[in-house]
Amino acid sequence: MLSPTLQAAMNDQITNEMFASNQYLAMSAYFEDLSLPGFAQWMRMQAEEEREHAMKFYDFIHDRAGQVRLQAIDPPLVEFVSPLDVFEKALEHEQRVSGQINTIYALAVRENDFASQAFLNWFVTEQVEEEKNSQQLVDTLRMVGDRGDALVMLDRELGARRAAQQMEPA
Ligand code: FEO
Repeated sequence: MLSPTLQAAMNDQITNEMFASNQYLAMSAYFEDLSLPGFAQWMRMQAEEEREHAMKFYDFIHDRAGQVRLQAIDPPLVEFVSPLDVFEKALEHEQRVSGQINTIYALAVRENDFASQAFLNWFVTEQVEEEKNSQQLVDTLRMVGDRGDALVMLDRELGARRAAQQMEPA
């Protein structure tokens, strides 16, 4: 059974992951407005992944005989100045999420809750990937600068990459 403290922290993390899902969907909408369908698709799939992250916590709380209590979700940012601005914000967001996961992990260690630690290991690994992906796109967009042709090529590449990932078995 989950301790009340860990249960509260995991309920908060459901809210954080749902916020992330909305934030990435808002970013996807921004790219739709810019007519960059590859970026929009990349962000849309990211939004779906964040919802899956929330549901992993949702299921784990129930598996441990805990109670899920959904909370209000803050509105996402909807104004951005450039694709680079979007990915800089995405990277900051992922760094914040890594901190949130680490805080819950530290709590599970303090409580000798080994099942929670095993569950959270997946998220620790996932955050390395999440930060890496955002950092790579920040770096690439810095190189692209204001070259529209390079941006369009990157858009095609991101759209193709996401399409290929969708065809992979889960
Ligand atoms: Fe749920 Fe992007 O971390």
